[in-house]
Amino acid sequence: MTKIINIKNNENNALDECAFCIRNGGTAIFPTETVYGIGTNALDKEAVDKIFKIKERSKKNPLIVLVSNIDMLNSIVNNITEVHRKLIEHFWPGPLTIIFDKCCNLPDSVTGGLDTVGVRIPSNEIAINLIEKAGVPLIAPSANISGKLSIVDVSVALKEFDGKVDYIVDGGISDIGIESTIVKVEGSIIKILRQGKILAEDIQKIGFNVSIDSSIIPSKNNKHYDIGKEVFVVTGNEDVIIEKIDNFLLENKTKKIGVIGFDEHYDIFNEKVCKYVNMGKNDNDIILKNLFNTLNEAKESNVDVFLIESLKSDNFGKIIMNKFTEVCNNKFI
Ligand code: TXA
Ligand code: MG
Repeated sequence: MTKIINIKNNENNALDECAFCIRNGGTAIFPTETVYGIGTNALDKEAVDKIFKIKERSKKNPLIVLVSNIDMLNSIVNNITEVHRKLIEHFWPGPLTIIFDKCCNLPDSVTGGLDTVGVRIPSNEIAINLIEKAGVPLIAPSANISGKLSIVDVSVALKEFDGKVDYIVDGGISDIGIESTIVKVEGSIIKILRQGKILAEDIQKIGFNVSIDSSIIPSKNNKHYDIGKEVFVVTGNEDVIIEKIDNFLLENKTKKIGVIGFDEHYDIFNEKVCKYVNMGKNDNDIILKNLFNTLNEAKESNVDVFLIESLKSDNFGKIIMNKFTEVCNNKFI
């Protein structure tokens, strides 16, 4: 049976229990600042195997590891350089996963046989407490069945994982809403393997050259952002987007069409479409936070085709548009 813990209700003792269980090979879903993670003791090979099974994840796809302090980092990695140290100093605790050389304490299955491992100190207080109480590093892949959307809300985790893990820790809606940025240091260049809320600009600001190279991530081909529908991203300025959507609706009257759009356009489209999925105010911080709940709502609907309104290209707009490009499989109108 899965035990649900709600930290806001002062169930701190329950977190002790959960930490004890994880340390001894139990499994839990818990909040991080990015998305919910599903984890266990990273040093326990059998426990790690359980997570691969529950997630239905390929054993070749490496897991990332969360630690609560630098001593714990030192116990699982080798060759921490000055460049690593500078990244750690600026971005930890927080949503930057750094690839290090792995040391032999860590079971090979954690890293899918690779000799490197991605690690971060998370900034979510519950996550930190859990690691500290467990006293061991935790593996923390996103809490979703492989190929499905990440989870930012415990109610979705319950539907998917109730009965499959020992504990689910409710920490409210995830703060950031997308997975961590993953970087690898190559000489003096920082390669971004996966884009998250920490942007290339943020890393450049502390004096590094940055390149973006998602081709070297082992899981590149999984369909993380597939919502199981035909999807188009609608480009242009506001008036053009509205006109393009209206035309599409006129030309495709036999299909069930939905729009994924902003609060500001709800009144324009809600009556005309089969389903209007509201991303919230046209503000990229809000949209980022709502991203997975938005995509999940679209996925659960009975719509044939979704049109996504494109975003302002300020701060996080580019990152969210990248994710939308995966959702629509490069189909734009
Ligand atoms: O924000 C996050 O990072 C969340 C939270 C829950 O911690 N976790 C997460 O884990 O997104 P996951 O397993 O869904 O994604 C980790 C990605 C995978 O694409 C994996 O292939 C890649 O990191 N990865 C893991 N170890 C790697 C390594 N040594 N080298 C390159 N890529 C690696
Ligand atoms: Mg994932």
